[in-house]
Amino acid sequence: MKTIFSGIQPSGTLTLGNYLGAMKHFVELQDDNNCYFCIVDQHAITVPQDRIMLQKNIRSLAALYLAVGIDPRKSTLFIQSEVPAHAQLGWIMQCVSYIGELERMTQFKDKSEGKHAVSSALLTYPPLMAADILLYQTDIVPVGEDQKQHLELTRDLAERFNKKYNDIFTIPEVKIPKVGARIMSLTEPEKKMSKSSPNPKSYISMLDDEKQIIKKMKSAVTDSENEVRYDKKNKPGVSNLLTIYSLCSGEKVEALEAKYAGKGYGEFKADVAEAVVTALKPIHERYQELIDSTELDNILDDGAAKANHAAMKMLKKAEKAVGLGRKRK
Ligand code: TYM
Repeated sequence: MKTIFSGIQPSGTLTLGNYLGAMKHFVELQDDNNCYFCIVDQHAITVPQDRIMLQKNIRSLAALYLAVGIDPRKSTLFIQSEVPAHAQLGWIMQCVSYIGELERMTQFKDKSEGKHAVSSALLTYPPLMAADILLYQTDIVPVGEDQKQHLELTRDLAERFNKKYNDIFTIPEVKIPKVGARIMSLTEPEKKMSKSSPNPKSYISMLDDEKQIIKKMKSAVTDSENEVRYDKKNKPGVSNLLTIYSLCSGEKVEALEAKYAGKGYGEFKADVAEAVVTALKPIHERYQELIDSTELDNILDDGAAKANHAAMKMLKKAEKAVGLGRKRK
């Protein structure tokens, strides 16, 4: 049995990209592994957040995790700030990180570019992410492609710590899906679909209703060829829609290409929208049952207790390795 850890930021309503690139795979992993899934609220505050919205998004993300099929009897679901060991080990991991390597992170460059009031936590985000993972002796971290660089740094930091202090951390492997690792924006298909985009037409939110999904799909950018064919380089818009369609319907991309041979984009887009609506419908229904329930709070309380128990053990080991606190007999 392997240990799995992954996290999602409660920084807006999740997109279809988060679902197809990450969440959907979490569900498949929980049967045979020891899984931890985290709502990383401390990561979310590295950029400004509205207090009320943040609290709403934390709860909404918890309900979404469960609505997609995370089963609290199999997996530990918890909120990062309710397990203080994350911030504590995060500090230690900052002490083994170099400013230069943090400045090279693409996410830092993207989020800080052109801004003058950039929080120092945006720079030190990756050591906290490393702590999230290392606290649970994680073997595998399932993520979308955009997190690959952070995972490579996590491995480097863990190896550096093990060499410098004591060999206590498991070196985690990254697991990126073969299809759907980078779902693209509907309006600018050369950019990734992002929940922090200012243009709501660029993404499908996991909570969008049927009408919104149909409308957004209709206005999705394609090309002038009118041929449904997968060609990521020359036809990024159509290729992205094919990927979305395939993952939502379970049909292979090649089968979809054949199905739409000789047909126009109008019919294709309408069917992609329908596949997305069908995939999200059961998630919406379960979400509505959970969002205001005490069941949700109970699950999060349980998750925090389990995560605290596991994380505390590892934190103590790390503190001992570094020499923090008093020597105990
Ligand atoms: P976040 O919150 O940006 O995204 C959550 C997960 O969704 C994936 N993802 C995508 N996959 C495919 N296509 C897209 N357009 C797309 N957009 C997002 C992300 O790759 C991610 O798997 N730093 C992380 C959160 C984090 C974390 C961790 C993850 C904190 N600690 C420890 C794993 C392990 C982040 O910002 O993800």
